[in-house]
Amino acid sequence: MSKDTTTAAQSVGDALENLSTESRKFAPSAEFAANAVVTASAYAEAAADRPAFWGKQASELLTWSKPFTKTLDWTNPPFATWFEDGEINAAYNALDRHVEAGNGDRVAIYFEGEPGDTRSYTYAQLTEEVKKAANAFEALGLAKGDRVAVYLPMIPEAVITLLACARIGAIHSVVFGGFSAEALRSRIDDAQAKLVVTADGTFRRGKPSSLKPAVDEALSVPGHSVENVVVVKRNGEDVNWVQGRDNWWDDTVGTASTEHTAVGHAAEHPLFILYTSGTTGKPKGILHTTGGYLTQGAYTHKAVFDLKPETDVYWCTADVGWVTGHSYVTYAPLINGATQIIYEGTPDSPHQGRFWEIVEKYKVSILYTAPTAIRTFMKWGEDIPAKYDLSSIRVLGSVGEPINPEAWMWYRRVIGSNKAPIVDTWWQTETGAIMIAPLPGVTETKPGSAQSPMPGIAVDVVDELGVPVPDGHGGYLVIREPWPSMLRGIWGDNERYKDTYWSRFDGMYFAGDGAKKDEDGDVWLLGRVDDVMNVSGHRLSTTEIESALVSHPSVAEAAVVGAADETTGQAVVAFVILRDSAVEDADIVTTLRNHVGHEIGPIAKPKTILVVPELPKTRSGKIMRRLLKDIAEGREAGDSSTLADNTVMNQIAASLKA
Ligand code: WT7
Repeated sequence: MSKDTTTAAQSVGDALENLSTESRKFAPSAEFAANAVVTASAYAEAAADRPAFWGKQASELLTWSKPFTKTLDWTNPPFATWFEDGEINAAYNALDRHVEAGNGDRVAIYFEGEPGDTRSYTYAQLTEEVKKAANAFEALGLAKGDRVAVYLPMIPEAVITLLACARIGAIHSVVFGGFSAEALRSRIDDAQAKLVVTADGTFRRGKPSSLKPAVDEALSVPGHSVENVVVVKRNGEDVNWVQGRDNWWDDTVGTASTEHTAVGHAAEHPLFILYTSGTTGKPKGILHTTGGYLTQGAYTHKAVFDLKPETDVYWCTADVGWVTGHSYVTYAPLINGATQIIYEGTPDSPHQGRFWEIVEKYKVSILYTAPTAIRTFMKWGEDIPAKYDLSSIRVLGSVGEPINPEAWMWYRRVIGSNKAPIVDTWWQTETGAIMIAPLPGVTETKPGSAQSPMPGIAVDVVDELGVPVPDGHGGYLVIREPWPSMLRGIWGDNERYKDTYWSRFDGMYFAGDGAKKDEDGDVWLLGRVDDVMNVSGHRLSTTEIESALVSHPSVAEAAVVGAADETTGQAVVAFVILRDSAVEDADIVTTLRNHVGHEIGPIAKPKTILVVPELPKTRSGKIMRRLLKDIAEGREAGDSSTLADNTVMNQIAASLKA
């Protein structure tokens, strides 16, 4: 544990004293509450008997080929099993059973390609495609338990591939299409993948962008585990071809039989591995299994988004390369029989209204996106969404990082017409599904807070010693009881699993996030505890200073780091992007320092504020503070290979020289 994390609880507590309190609250409308899919009674029901509550969800939401008789087994912590003696097929639950129930003609996926091409799949059609892919993969020698690396753009074949793997019991491991050949190689190697499914490439901002060359490079070293590569033709670019190894999707999947019977797999059979970076060391292969993962995914998707599968059009903008694209694109929406949008491109191509054009075209009713996107839309200006009809929207979701109250308010007013409830959902790759979020028909929402643990989830905020903090105080976020979709381990490294998550506090899962409980006992996430700063013995949260900066009308985005400082230990250094509409203000730096002083307290005033054109972000939209810290501390910026756009660091350097 680093020094930063051991002082986090204290720091959060101190920061609280300086906080401007957020007191706005938004109750659901009477109409929304009256028609809500899940009501307040779920909390009490779950609290009365947690495993029984989840057992009920598992039976009601899923179809088991062999019913389970046991719910949770926690006799060997931290290794849990859920529904252990049950058997289930994930793909059957996502597909065949909806067709059997007479819903085969319902649209499962509306696909919008980046160049503007479109496709749609009904449940019947998607079921056929998955059966074909399952047959094709089996014909290539793939068997239950084998690992499959998936390196695809956000196209329907990604979902089809994952479900085909699940159908035959193969374990998928998606590597985000923006990761390098080196990252792909290390993940293929760690998982010992036998098959790689990829595409020639995709499109970015109207231009072809390649994927296959990275696969070729990753497999250029001898001794790798891969026997076959299946290649989807997407952008039509020329590709190198390795005879005997490479197979076109159209030739293999395209010609396969549409007959394929799904058999049940044990509830604890591995479903997927997804690599995620820790603070140090090589990426961890987070392992998820089947029955519990599907149960919590399906329940939370229904409860948090108030899903009405017959009428809703759901759009989660996440890429399948991230856990959100697994749980809330590939699995839960299809398990729940929803109609959803899949979009290949970025929000600004061919124009900054692309998202809103899609919402209008398909009458999207549930939109689930990330704060970084929302802040970008704010920067572009509200006249852009104003050009489109967004009246179909009835629930708005947020995920990935704390959402600043000002971004929350903008999202509610501009996108949600001041009426759609916002559900800020806290969870992690490791948790597999949503853990903390409002229930949209129940909770009085507060801008910037994820608020309440889901029914059946035991979250707490504890101090240094693991003692729960009283309301109004901050500390570490922990999870007290095992939950159905919890990671079952780190692929091939049980010790690392114990050390990373279960050793900081006795008997509790340590999430790595700082949090506070407000006077009502609601949870506010404060960012990773390693992002907490210590300035002259006062501890400050980067997130809170960022929120303060973003609450100023001239600021579009802000990132704050603690830079080493001889006198104060650390000093607050802020990087800000000004809004396009920001008035010319020669004294903008002084203005913003004073604004932060006003919002939080003089101690939080950044020592330095640097106005920059862009911020370095990973492909999942997280700001890479490490690189900003390098600049703030006067060093050459370190490894920026995982940035979404690796020219950003040069742009920042150039702007600071100017
Ligand atoms: C970390 C997990 C959950 C899928 C995408 C990210 C941060 C996530 C929130 C939120 C505040 C959030 C946490 C967490 N985070 N959602 N609603 N409010 N922080 O998954 O890449 O595994 O990252 O993202 O710091 O620990 P991930």
